[in-house]
Amino acid sequence: MMNNALQEEILKLKEEKNAIILAHNYQPKEVQEIADFLGDSLELCIKASEIEDKDLVIFCGVDFMAETAFILNPDKKIVIPTLEAECPMAHMLPEEVLLKAKEEHPDAGVILYVNSIAEAKQHADTLCTSANAVKVTESLPHKKILFGPDKNLGTHVADKLKDKEIIHVPSDGHCYVHRLIHVEDVELKRKEYPNAEIICHPECKLEVQKACDVVMSTGGMLRHIAESDKEEFVIGTEIDMITRINSEVPGKKLYPLLEGAICNTMKLHTLEKIRDSLINEEPRVTLPSEVADKSRKAVEHMLEVSK
Ligand code: 13P
Ligand code: SF4
Repeated sequence: MMNNALQEEILKLKEEKNAIILAHNYQPKEVQEIADFLGDSLELCIKASEIEDKDLVIFCGVDFMAETAFILNPDKKIVIPTLEAECPMAHMLPEEVLLKAKEEHPDAGVILYVNSIAEAKQHADTLCTSANAVKVTESLPHKKILFGPDKNLGTHVADKLKDKEIIHVPSDGHCYVHRLIHVEDVELKRKEYPNAEIICHPECKLEVQKACDVVMSTGGMLRHIAESDKEEFVIGTEIDMITRINSEVPGKKLYPLLEGAICNTMKLHTLEKIRDSLINEEPRVTLPSEVADKSRKAVEHMLEVSK
């Protein structure tokens, strides 16, 4: 329900500019309400690959997501309401660290989590998101895989695919938000909500994943809950995922696994900043054409495997 003059102004500007607003599931309620499309990283990537009829894309997510939209649409204006919206994990794997690891393991396939900078992506064989990491890893013929930057997602994949040797690059890349969640939080919520199913994201530590009932991407959580007969769920990821599920799947009881699981940079896109970015058509997200061209192969490989 739209109840805010700024939201109305944004919708009007969006029409005038023939713009589309893409937003990640972790955006706050007021941003989710004005988005044309909401999704997890994979769904946003797929949507970005399908934008043909819009002149301007306003990307309410973190830097690597907007960069991926640019990689797939180098001729479009891709705007992120604030450039400060960075994913710290994506910056944990600088290009030179990946190049050194490739030199040390010349026989390894390279899979980068989409939460990585484009300068690193250009050296990957393929990319993955939390929704398709296992499938993408299976798709590479290599037994040895350089996987980064998220060690927990890499450990999740290694746990499922015992015939692959996963080498983490860097050795301890992580999401600071999901790292806040501990096994004790799972035990506590189990006592508090004995009838609830406990779901967490694969960016959580493996011991947390093992303590939960189900592990899935944010988009996977939404679909799973919509299709489930169960009524109560504990959600182990960023707090606004609950906002998203509540608005799509009414009638369920949702509890956060950790109330403090907040991705601060995801919250930087205020309605004022979104309005201004529509008016000014900036700040623009761009990449050098060589980096975009080389990274596009890895993005396209992932999208092909995910079909
Ligand atoms: P999803 O692809 O599951 O939405 O995850 C993205 C992310 O950054 C999680 O922290
Ligand atoms: Fe990055 Fe973690 Fe925020 Fe996801 S929740 S965007 S991995 S910092």
